[in-house]
Amino acid sequence: MVPGVEGIFGKPIVTQEEMRARIRELGRQITADYAQKDLILIGILKGAFAFYADLARAIRLPLRVDFVVVSSYTRRSKSSGKIKMLTELTEDIAGRDVLLVEDIVDSGRTIQHLRKKLGAKKPKSIKVCALLNKPARRQVDVVVDYVGFHIPNKFVVGYGLDYQQLYRNLPYLAVLEKVSEEGEPV
Ligand code: IMP
Ligand code: MG
Repeated sequence: MVPGVEGIFGKPIVTQEEMRARIRELGRQITADYAQKDLILIGILKGAFAFYADLARAIRLPLRVDFVVVSSYTRRSKSSGKIKMLTELTEDIAGRDVLLVEDIVDSGRTIQHLRKKLGAKKPKSIKVCALLNKPARRQVDVVVDYVGFHIPNKFVVGYGLDYQQLYRNLPYLAVLEKVSEEGEPV
């Protein structure tokens, strides 16, 4: 348990055990779907780090790993469309089967931006695996090929997800209770 967080968040909405079980299932599905392919897992940092590490080890195939650090400029509420890749890939993805690994798909803008940017590098295929999906907040139409959990329109932390860069190390997923009417943390 992370010191200081018990009592702030109350009960997990997704427990560590539920996470583990679901990620094992995703790993089995991806293993079946990508057999004989040239898989490269691209983690979207920082949020995907915890999910990524579990997912990669649940996939029983030879694969390559790479990461991009992505940032929206300001608070999420004001960031519409201003997604930026802060780092470049270190692996060549041309002709390879790319699987983008994301913590959560919310407005959909991050995934929309990366599909376009990375798609221009001529991968053989490009798909998305997100631990969480919050369809109620979607602003742009994006395909999410693999989803761990669909969650309600609440701001969540833990398992890689942050509030102001904190709580990413919480080993389960919890709802941050203090949010404004727009669904943003206050
Ligand atoms: P999108 O571009 O709006 O789909 O948002 C994607 C990013 O917003 C995610 O990668 C997260 O970093 C962040 N985000 C969205 N919803 C939440 C949440 O409930 N908790 C923490 N971060 C979130
Ligand atoms: Mg993120």
